[in-house]
Amino acid sequence: MKILIKNIKELFQVREVCITRLSAAEMSNMPSIKNAWLATENGIIVGYGAMGEWTGITDWTDLTVIDAEEKFVFPSFCDSHTHLIYASSRENEFEYRIKGLSYEQIAEKGGGILNSANKLRTSNEDDLFNSAMQRINAIIKTGTGAVEIKSGYGLDVDSELKMLRVIKRIKEQSPITVKTTLLAAHAIPNEYKNNRKAYIKLITDTLIPLVKEECLADFIDVFCERNYFTPEETREIIFSGNEAGLRAKIHVNQFSSNGGIQVAVKENALSVDHLEVMHEKDFSVLKNVNTIPCLLPSCSFFIGIPYAPAQNLLHNNIPFALATDYNPGSSPSGSMPFVISLACIKMKLTPEQAINAATLNGAYAMNTENETGSITIGKKANLFITKPLSSLAYLPYAFTENYIDTIILNGKIVNS
Ligand code: NIG
Ligand code: FE
Repeated sequence: MKILIKNIKELFQVREVCITRLSAAEMSNMPSIKNAWLATENGIIVGYGAMGEWTGITDWTDLTVIDAEEKFVFPSFCDSHTHLIYASSRENEFEYRIKGLSYEQIAEKGGGILNSANKLRTSNEDDLFNSAMQRINAIIKTGTGAVEIKSGYGLDVDSELKMLRVIKRIKEQSPITVKTTLLAAHAIPNEYKNNRKAYIKLITDTLIPLVKEECLADFIDVFCERNYFTPEETREIIFSGNEAGLRAKIHVNQFSSNGGIQVAVKENALSVDHLEVMHEKDFSVLKNVNTIPCLLPSCSFFIGIPYAPAQNLLHNNIPFALATDYNPGSSPSGSMPFVISLACIKMKLTPEQAINAATLNGAYAMNTENETGSITIGKKANLFITKPLSSLAYLPYAFTENYIDTIILNGKIVNS
């Protein structure tokens, strides 16, 4: 199967060579070609350029031609942080928050992650798979072409494995690129309330080896936060995950700054996620390291906590990714366009910075930078064609407007 897109008003995020990740300064630049063409073959980007230099079509076999006059083309968004496998929504907590309770207070009253765990444990795998696939199909429609999905609502061996197997089925059956994270350390389940050491031992000595045996995860995650897991416990779980080949992506600094970033960076985590509460010492440790922050503005929007200090990160030359945190408690939305709008409106990012954080740096934050995140020959043909648009800034400006016309994943049109 081959696709040729011609007369593209502007082809964005064109990178001649594969870039690992963009620095803070590079995030301001969005390379593009005006009046462009792009060709895909067997699921891969095989060529692009300016229409003026186009040599025309020589081989029409199996070729679909799309005329993109007045339209833009972008690489698909890369959402590097989601919890989109869950048994049911939690709008009752949303109503508690309207009445004045905080996310942490609701968790103390038995809501939150433990509430989702109770429901997930009694759900069967097929139901979980079907509801997750609906969410996957919805995020594909909003432009996402690569997604990281976490476990973490099972909190026992069988239920965590059940979640990971659901993610494996999504990987096999959906055209979206999927990375999987084991987040058994999302909360201490009730049955281990008085023996947290035993739960951590269950993760390190039983669950992680089983996950390794079945090749069910790419990454290990811990909710390193007061009332959840301490930095020392986080270190122990990262260690054990690393031994099984799982690199760390860690929830840190959502409600407090407790040394989690320092532990994650020391253990060479791929990403540190959230960062809504940052102290001076947390910035210095993020300079010139492989670990990338991943900011989640729709979580801040939804539960009313501060936005991560994106400007301070940029001033300190620290690049970052943007993701949705799609989950039933703190961000019941998997919309990357909304995340990009929020990042511009609330974090004062330029459209270029926000889109770079949502594509190339998102790809880096889930280790798919060699196959997704930019228009580069040899990368997966994961991209979307917009409706006729006036400029790049129209994307974040027109928040909630669906500006996507045609979606191509692995070189196939998945909707139009
Ligand atoms: O990233 N903070 C931890 N985990 C999720 C929320 C999970 C939930 O509330 O169900 C987050 O915000
Ligand atoms: Fe999260």
